[in-house]
Amino acid sequence: ADSVKLATTDVDPKERYAVGAFNFSTIPEMVGIVEGAREKNAPVILMASLGAIKYIGSLELIAETAKGIAKTYPEVPFCLHLDHATDMEQIKQAVVAGFTNVMIDASKEDFETNIARSKEIADFAHNHSPYGINGCSVEAELGMLAGHEDNIHVEESGKAYTDPSLVKEFVERTGIDALAVAIGTAHGFYKAAPEIKFDLLEEIRKQTDVALVLHGGTGVPEDDFRKCVAMGMSKINVGTGLKKVYTDAVREAIKTLPETEYDPRKIAGPGRKAIAAEIASKSDFFNCSGKA
Ligand code: G3H
Ligand code: ZN
Repeated sequence: ADSVKLATTDVDPKERYAVGAFNFSTIPEMVGIVEGAREKNAPVILMASLGAIKYIGSLELIAETAKGIAKTYPEVPFCLHLDHATDMEQIKQAVVAGFTNVMIDASKEDFETNIARSKEIADFAHNHSPYGINGCSVEAELGMLAGHEDNIHVEESGKAYTDPSLVKEFVERTGIDALAVAIGTAHGFYKAAPEIKFDLLEEIRKQTDVALVLHGGTGVPEDDFRKCVAMGMSKINVGTGLKKVYTDAVREAIKTLPETEYDPRKIAGPGRKAIAAEIASKSDFFNCSGKA
């Protein structure tokens, strides 16, 4: 279980590389993500959404699976992350189960409530991980991305860019390790390419040393990823696009195989392979290949 330990704070912002964080919905996808990272000798973050937990069965099932993956792929440093969680009890349960990074998403709440909830989780996670003090790091969000993904729905009219003047106070009062920022990306597939506000990222980066997190990685052009990383983004989340990569590969397998073929490994196996290839190529964009 030694490898389930990479916290997002392990990335020094001055190093200028980001760890890719990928949503999974099934156990074979978890393995595919780690296999892709191994191909590039890269660290990686496995993200469980609330929908994935419901579908797979429980937080514990996922945490124990991650421990098994760590034993099977000891050369890959990876982090098990709880994504966009809002239920305080569920987040604490994830910490105790062995998640090594949890996100408290109180971004829809007012500033003081967001601070109070984020601080409560930071205090708990830093002291209650089975991996010891600071064995679990904490991500919180300031500002709000538009879009839809899993349990997250925010209308275009409801989005809010991160206010850089609040960043320092938010980080200091909460004690979080990583900050999700809203700088122009959105959750889900984009209708048009996102317009990332790089000047805002620069302003935010000056305010704090904690790891910065880019949500809504699906549809972001390669050059924009590289620019964000060069400017100090440390974690980049990709969800929707990876689902499509998996499903396209499975669909293709079903189309090509004869009807007499019923082996699930031949149907779902190409999905897992396609995921690994996607993680490998994203690791290059994020400049984290070779950083394991
Ligand atoms: O937290 C998850 C991500 O922000 C994924 O966003 O589905 O647009 O790639 P995405
Ligand atoms: Zn997100």
